[in-house]
Amino acid sequence: MTNNIYFIANWKMYGSASSLNYLNKLINLSKLKKYRNAKIIYFPPFTLIQSFINKFKNTKIHVGGQNCHHIEDYGSFTGSISSKMLKELGCKYVILGHSENRIAGETDEDINKKIHSALNKNLKVIFCIGETLKEKRKKITFSVLKRQINKGLKSIKNFNNILIAYEPVWSIGTGVIPKDKELEFNVSKIKRIISKKTRYKLPILYGGSVNNKNISNLKNIMGIKGFLVGSASQSSKKFIDIIKKTIN
Ligand code: PGA
Repeated sequence: MTNNIYFIANWKMYGSASSLNYLNKLINLSKLKKYRNAKIIYFPPFTLIQSFINKFKNTKIHVGGQNCHHIEDYGSFTGSISSKMLKELGCKYVILGHSENRIAGETDEDINKKIHSALNKNLKVIFCIGETLKEKRKKITFSVLKRQINKGLKSIKNFNNILIAYEPVWSIGTGVIPKDKELEFNVSKIKRIISKKTRYKLPILYGGSVNNKNISNLKNIMGIKGFLVGSASQSSKKFIDIIKKTIN
């Protein structure tokens, strides 16, 4: 077991070539011994992946894709990117199962196929799960998480390259985060579901409105190995602040 703490910057459909100028301070921070356990991974839009990879050359910051097609090589799928293509660019990771894609129609079965394709190409997978507000109110959070995990990870044999991002959908982009107890409880439930599938302890990350203010509290939640940061990651000042406050 390592003591790595993951800091995932999910830029969604934001960013332009000029955004790269903001990354110098982050690169400097990543080189400091104090932050050696910080695993920083950027997920820019596909259009900026190559530039980010060039920018982070000779650093320990990695780059990943925000999604991929379930066909792992090449094919006639207009508008899609495969895991092979991400790998060829130099990506190490891919985010799969993000709620914004689930809402757009991605099913548990689709996600499962994508996870298989990513693992076949030696990408590490950030597998997102989480309940909607409606599901939380109906008190079916546990069964939703169980279904997402069991279907999403169906027939997976090697769990070494999988990280789980627990992202309550009602917390993404809303500024609302779960209460400490609730978060701790759900993380422990997720661990229990996973322990029935594998002995390997998958790192569990939290995502949903993480910012440089609530991080001081979130970092104390038991069982969390890092954070998936959306909007706050587009400001390198805020993202640096999140890393500094987590590792102090
Ligand atoms: P947020 O996004 O930090 O802006 O809430 C998180 C995510 O969508 O992964």
